[in-house]
Amino acid sequence: MPDEERIVLDPWGTAHVKDYDRLMQEFGIEPLTDELVERLPFQHRLIRRRVIFGHRDLGLILKAIEEDGSYAVMTGIKPSGDYHLGAKLTSEEFIYFQSLSPKAFGFFAIADLEAYADNKIPLEESHRIALSNLTDLLALGLDPRRVYVYKQSVEIPVLRLAFIFSRAVTYNMIEAIYGPKPFGLYFSALVQAGDILNPQLPQHGGPKPTIVPVGADQDPHIRLTRDLASKYREEFGFILPSATYHRLLRDLTGQEKMSKRNPMGILYLNEPLSSARVKVMQAFTGGRATAEEQRRLGGEPEKCVVFVELLLAHFLEDDKRLEEWYWECKTGQILCGECKARAWTIIEHWLRNHQEKRNKMRDLAEKLLEEKTLSQQW
Ligand code: TRP
Ligand code: SF4
Repeated sequence: MPDEERIVLDPWGTAHVKDYDRLMQEFGIEPLTDELVERLPFQHRLIRRRVIFGHRDLGLILKAIEEDGSYAVMTGIKPSGDYHLGAKLTSEEFIYFQSLSPKAFGFFAIADLEAYADNKIPLEESHRIALSNLTDLLALGLDPRRVYVYKQSVEIPVLRLAFIFSRAVTYNMIEAIYGPKPFGLYFSALVQAGDILNPQLPQHGGPKPTIVPVGADQDPHIRLTRDLASKYREEFGFILPSATYHRLLRDLTGQEKMSKRNPMGILYLNEPLSSARVKVMQAFTGGRATAEEQRRLGGEPEKCVVFVELLLAHFLEDDKRLEEWYWECKTGQILCGECKARAWTIIEHWLRNHQEKRNKMRDLAEKLLEEKTLSQQW
């Protein structure tokens, strides 16, 4: 395939996927078929609506659920700022997989080393941000009794794995996956492989199926980790980790990747309702140039951030209402101003409720991170 046609996924850059079918073909991600979806004990809205579009080895997790119910769910977040809609997505998936079996156990990595390598965030600041992030994770429904939360910078077994894995990775291999990058990012990738295989170490009960829900941009990490898991299978007995992939959503202004440089594009879960409202009311839509045109031609909900990102992906749980909403837009029965005001009442209700729950979770978040603070000294 000519170089300019190759899909490049950059987990630290501006990942933008135009064609998910091609992405799956090129990298061997399997489509999320109806048959697999039906085997899940219940279907999360992100699954029903195929925001989660693909997977690797999800069958291993389904088998575990159908048999004795034990498996691990693993994810990490880079504590680079307060929780926004993107982080909400991964967290909801994590909580969903944790909830599918009473024997599922969660591992949640605070990627403070990656935040340092990628965003120059000092480790102490990461700790503060991580506390805020954990508060959101708990408010979203994490079961605190079945999760192990840790920071990369003080998790010796993960760092040790990263070192062990480095023996099997040459510069050419890592460059072929990620392109030319500072060594800190390559090292972060090995640490992330350590995160993903950490649940399978003896101190966590040994090899087990592990599901890692991620955005499509994280696939290079998954491929690297699966490669390492097979290379070190003899030594550690690793089972190749499974993954699910969600589509990369646009920001509120319609940009393909959220950036702090565009604050109107990011909706934070803890932000004041007044500014959240302004952002929603100014979001990018699929509306026409004039009201007359929109009544005549209808809107384009499939292009609209209010419809796709806000309602479909995040805030409207009811499938029937979502479908009705789609047709109301498509047939020009509703105009964008009224539509956004209506969407806002749903989002406002959600945010208010979330922020109330959040306020009650601060102590618990602190407790989950507590021991990590004590051992953080150099
Ligand atoms: N790289 C991820 C991000 O940018 C964070 C992360 C660190 C992660 N360790 C992980 C994700 C392990 C999934 C599994 O947000
Ligand atoms: Fe989007 Fe609503 Fe406008 Fe349709 S009417 S394009 S769904 S904002």
